[in-house]
Amino acid sequence: MRYLITGGTGFIGGHLIERLVAEGHAVTALVRSPHKAKRLEELGVTLLPGDLSLFADEVDLDPVDVVVHLAGVVAAQDPDQYEAINFTAVVDLMDCLERQAWSPKRLLFASSLAAAGPSPADRAWTEADVLAPIEPYGEAKMRAEQTLKGASFPVTSFRPPIVLGPGDPAFLTLFKAGMSRVGVRVLGPAQRLSWVFVDDLISAIVRMSEDTRDGDYTYYTSSQEVVDTDRLWNALRRALNRSILVIPLPGWVLSLAASVATRGSAVLGLHNQLDHKQVAQMRAPAFVCDSEALRTDLGWATTVGFDDAMHRTADGYRKLGWL
Ligand SMILES: NC(=O)c1ccc[n+]([C@@H]2O[C@H](COP(=O)([O-])OP(=O)(O)OC[C@H]3O[C@@H](n4cnc5c(N)ncnc54)[C@H](OP(=O)(O)O)[C@@H]3O)[C@@H](O)[C@H]2O)c1
Repeated sequence: MRYLITGGTGFIGGHLIERLVAEGHAVTALVRSPHKAKRLEELGVTLLPGDLSLFADEVDLDPVDVVVHLAGVVAAQDPDQYEAINFTAVVDLMDCLERQAWSPKRLLFASSLAAAGPSPADRAWTEADVLAPIEPYGEAKMRAEQTLKGASFPVTSFRPPIVLGPGDPAFLTLFKAGMSRVGVRVLGPAQRLSWVFVDDLISAIVRMSEDTRDGDYTYYTSSQEVVDTDRLWNALRRALNRSILVIPLPGWVLSLAASVATRGSAVLGLHNQLDHKQVAQMRAPAFVCDSEALRTDLGWATTVGFDDAMHRTADGYRKLGWL
């Protein structure tokens, strides 16, 4: 099949493109950084130079079967970026595809479990639940999903939880904390979390892209194995092979620390390691979703357990020299 991928220079996109190329598919990737494009060129990917603003222009795109929209901002310095990149640019892409003389068989959109917000302590979110995001990242993803329902071509929005794997920038902070042998968690019951290993997520994306049914679908894409933050720190100890002191902090202390870190980093022009989005997520009782629908509809199954995922993620960071 012919694929157009955005976000192909990112963590999930890199793994997806390697799989698609290995399976013999023709891949075109939107790329804004010539430096990052080199690896894709080596893989034989056709490059579409530019950033997401390209889709707001009157551009003629070469026909493809499936568009996978992964480009997005996960940890923005400025909350307005969530609106601009995770919502407005998605609408621009949809409108751009509508203007083409051809139509994709399907657009896959990388939403997030954050679009649903924290789950109740006693049950997992399913696709039938109402979305209730608690921070700008999740709000933008939710609105993008809702707007895509108006597309004239079939759309599948998928909502990954935490994605673990080699090259994951989002979890690097946690692994670095583990290397320094000190971590924090919110005082009280351990938070429960869904997660997925990147190879399993890629298998889900491939299955969703091969879906020949008509209509729009939304799927959670998580492992059936739910972990809590205590299990997470224990797995991190094993993956890094070191003891880690985890300090339980009251939620208000973390909120105060986030205010100081956000203002301080803005003044000093540094990347903020602890913002209010992270604290809101840390204080929630659970982020747990159920992927039964995807398993039933498309026969998807995960293959990687949590400890293995943490070990493979740590090994990946070491190979990249990030730890
Ligand atoms: N990783 C997770 O745990 C997770 C969980 C749930 C949902 N998601 C969603 O999955 C998607 C991929 O996540 P990821 O972890 O692979 O993120 P990532 O590693 O940060 O990669 C983001 C990708 O988006 C591209 N991008 C960002 N802004 C762009 C712009 N204005 N124009 C063109 N490209 C732009 C980046 O390009 P450059 O390389 O040039 O910067 C990069 O290729 C995102 O939409 C994210 O919200 C991720």
